[in-house]
Amino acid sequence: MEILRARDMGFCFGVRRAVEMMEQSAQEVGPVISLGSIVHNPQVVERLRQRGVDVARSLDELADASLPVAITAHGVGPDVVAELERRGLDVIDTTCPIVVRSQMWAKRLADEGYAVIIFGDPNHKEVRGVLGWTKGRGYAVPREEDLEHLPEDLPHKLGVLSQTTHHASHFARFVQRLIETRLDRISELRVVNTLCNATTNQQVAARELAQEVELMIVVGGRESANTRHLAEVCQEEGVETYHVESAAELRPEWFTGKERVGVTGGASTPDFAIDQVVERIRELAAS
Ligand code: F3S
Repeated sequence: MEILRARDMGFCFGVRRAVEMMEQSAQEVGPVISLGSIVHNPQVVERLRQRGVDVARSLDELADASLPVAITAHGVGPDVVAELERRGLDVIDTTCPIVVRSQMWAKRLADEGYAVIIFGDPNHKEVRGVLGWTKGRGYAVPREEDLEHLPEDLPHKLGVLSQTTHHASHFARFVQRLIETRLDRISELRVVNTLCNATTNQQVAARELAQEVELMIVVGGRESANTRHLAEVCQEEGVETYHVESAAELRPEWFTGKERVGVTGGASTPDFAIDQVVERIRELAAS
């Protein structure tokens, strides 16, 4: 059996940078508390814990008020930053620069009187953070169908951003639907491309690989939006696809009769998790 890896996969620049910043800080000044998991990947969280980076799920959970607190790559709203400052805590801000750009656009549009529509999951950490920068003028809309639930009395100036990990084609359709359904109530529309190339490039690589193989294995945390998107991209190509968090979840029967298997991993998936999956597939193929 041939095992092919996507030419672009795994930790993106933003996550790599955040992990390095937290590890470096833990090494130099001692234990650090990460405000939320650094990535949606349990293995990475455990590895970081062993290196002195623990996780608090929320501000309320910051038990030891004296330890430095790290903001994760997904970023937070200004209210959280203010609260950390109020408590006098040292802050290590590892927000991905691409997310910072999205936050700054949200702020700027809100300051200029736009209602800010964010194409994204309102429960996703990045989206919650970006919403925080809109000063209450933001609306997270998870799917294009949900556009009809927007309030009737929105300002006539609309700004549109996207969660960084969305597909470009889905964002384009979202904007198109917004125009089709609301143009009579829009005087000005400002669309800012806040998509992240790291994710788009990985999606393109996954799509290309999915066209060449009979089975795709997508490695990454189940909570990871971009890993789930990668699995969707592969399924769209009509190839049998499984999303696994670790090598232990691979089932021998998936590989029966397969000659070419593709492997990819989301932006929050560490290299070691991908290597373990490839190794396990090799073992299964040999057995
Ligand atoms: Fe940043 Fe893109 Fe990764 S927004 S955290 S480089 S997926």
